[in-house]
Amino acid sequence: MTFKASVLTLYPEMFPGPLGLSLAGRALEAGTWSLEAVQIRDFAEDRHHTVDDTPAGGGAGMVMRADVLAKAIDHTAPEGDPRPKLLMSPRGKPLTQARVRELAPGPGAVIVCGRFEGVDQRLIEARNLEEVSIGDFILSGGEPAALVLLDAVVRLLPGVMGNAVSGEEESFENGLLEHPHYTRPQEFEGRPIPDVLTSGNHKKIAAWRRAESEKLTRDRRPDLLAAQPLAK
Ligand SMILES: C[S@@+](CC[C@H](N)C(=O)[O-])C[C@H]1O[C@@H](n2cnc3c(N)ncnc32)[C@H](O)[C@@H]1O
Repeated sequence: MTFKASVLTLYPEMFPGPLGLSLAGRALEAGTWSLEAVQIRDFAEDRHHTVDDTPAGGGAGMVMRADVLAKAIDHTAPEGDPRPKLLMSPRGKPLTQARVRELAPGPGAVIVCGRFEGVDQRLIEARNLEEVSIGDFILSGGEPAALVLLDAVVRLLPGVMGNAVSGEEESFENGLLEHPHYTRPQEFEGRPIPDVLTSGNHKKIAAWRRAESEKLTRDRRPDLLAAQPLAK
């Protein structure tokens, strides 16, 4: 089954962008996933193709109109389309690897990219949009956030990653940050590779990696550790 991504945007030229290269680009060419970028402006009915208006109640900036976005969504995903409808939004639930893993085996996603101050709340409710944030910072538009989400999903699609095992060992897959990596040369600017990694003792290597993972997670992301059974 092909993962079908439809991105609703005022800047369709931003797609596939970086997703046209490397693993995601090859998978796109191979038909493992498909991508359509839909120009929201095409659904505005006035002469100037207006997609935004001033905020009710006053204030700075502009708000994307519910009626124009609704037409774009209904055209892209008519009733019965099984794909989840996402709205990239700093007010959304933070994107997690767990949510990415849920999306990847599904039929795809319809992704709305906001601009300006955001979108009319009535659209979010009327079309049941799931608001998704990629972090506690403000982008100028939802497009880079959509690229981030799709990158994370596409690398999990069957056949996209060369070595499937590496995907299971990444940061967050087991609730911890990943251990440090080393490769040749054996010594770099006076720093050797830790002895245990060249010992050939796989049990010791696994224990060292687990301990390093826990140490890093404790230092940088103690919030992730709360639900973790710690190694002895
Ligand atoms: C300038 S932002 C609007 C910010 C909004 N006024 C607020 O304070 O929540 C414009 C658009 O960028 C996207 N965006 C900005 N930051 C984001 C984030 N952290 N995650 C996902 N989307 C984001 C959203 O689509 C948003 O509608």
